Amino acid sequence: MNRPAPNYTGKVKRVALLGATGSIGRQAIEVVEASPELELCALASGSSDLTALAAEHDVESVQTGGDLTALLEATEPDVILNAVVGFAGIRATLWALEHGVTLALANKESLVAAGALALAAQERGGGLLLPVDSEHSAAFQCLEGRAPESVHSLVLTASGGPFRGRSRADLVDVSVDEALAHPTWSMGPKVTIDSATLANKGLELIEAHFLFGIAYEQLEVVLQPTSVVHALVRFRDGAALAHLGYPDMRVPISWALTHPERGPVDLPHLDLAGGLTLEFSAPDLDTFPLLALARRAGEQGGTYPCAFNAANETAVAAFLDGKLPFLGIGDAVGDALDAVDGAPARDLDDLIEADAEARRLAGRGVHLSRGAGSTEPPAEVPALPALERK
Ligand SMILES: NC(=O)c1ccc[n+]([C@@H]2O[C@H](COP(=O)([O-])OP(=O)(O)OC[C@H]3O[C@@H](n4cnc5c(N)ncnc54)[C@H](OP(=O)(O)O)[C@@H]3O)[C@@H](O)[C@H]2O)c1
Repeated sequence: MNRPAPNYTGKVKRVALLGATGSIGRQAIEVVEASPELELCALASGSSDLTALAAEHDVESVQTGGDLTALLEATEPDVILNAVVGFAGIRATLWALEHGVTLALANKESLVAAGALALAAQERGGGLLLPVDSEHSAAFQCLEGRAPESVHSLVLTASGGPFRGRSRADLVDVSVDEALAHPTWSMGPKVTIDSATLANKGLELIEAHFLFGIAYEQLEVVLQPTSVVHALVRFRDGAALAHLGYPDMRVPISWALTHPERGPVDLPHLDLAGGLTLEFSAPDLDTFPLLALARRAGEQGGTYPCAFNAANETAVAAFLDGKLPFLGIGDAVGDALDAVDGAPARDLDDLIEADAEARRLAGRGVHLSRGAGSTEPPAEVPALPALERK
């Protein structure tokens, strides 16, 4: 289990912010601006111009696209906040862990794709891996200091997204705008679509498995529509600890950047006496097949989680681009996973190859787009023929 010892030294922490122009990146800048103990030393984006942002925050080192490890080598940050979206964040994650630099990780896709490699790199580097995902930040805090044998299971909560309670027939014609209208969180487009399909909770299951060393059968997902309960840990004596708060990513961002101090965040406290009620229910795995597909990919291990992620990224991009219906996302990912060979994940090259193969297969699924109009779950769909590997 990932259990850091406090190592705060009291000096100003230099933060390298990767994905500075995104939803997490912008909120991280607010957190840094509000804290005298944090300063930005490097900024990175995919293609957005960083000139104005860098000038505003007096940051000399910036990078747009490419391999971000050169920026990290040059700036020697105390903390790296990886808020890049997608597999593109993988080199920075591995670099931080290998070099023992504290990694505040929002980029869940890199841990999903490279879980075993990332943990091995952390073992060698000896640094901290602090989750920024709200559920994992919550779980980390509930698990901190607990004996692993006392933990019965971990419960990740999901809002259920904008389509909670809908049937597959209801989802045949949903638009991109409807899928982007998340009820509780304001986030970047990719993670918002992942929340609508429940792929996000699938990625988070795999992320939790690697972060906390908890077996998949001890990982549970429940819906909690208002996103006030972020995670629960059940213990062997029947007790459960939960982490509660209004949904605001500045809380887990601040927690990770100021760890172990838990710096202040200017947000309202829960209004308990005002009539706060909490409702829980089971997710609908037939209507939202990506959660079960992710769990299966996690259990299969090797490059399957990497392939799940890559196929999902491809399908989500196609949906956002109007080239795939909403239900086609699950179909394309399911078909791609049936066709990949699940090779072992020995090094980064294996992952890059698995990622590319799954993208090719999912791209083919998008092309065929047999998901349009389907109201049946995709589980029994025959696998696409395997494509020749590079
Ligand atoms: N948003 C949330 O509330 C939230 C919550 C939990 C977890 N997360 C996770 O946090 C990560 C970021 O999410 P987000 O919602 O902030 O996404 P976002 O708003 O789409 O922002 C993505 C950021 O990544 C940058 N980027 C994209 N490709 C890149 C590349 N090749 N190299 C360097 N930077 C690149 C983008 O730069 P450009 O501006 O140039 O495109 C942008 O700054 C995701 O892994 C997501 O799952 C987000």
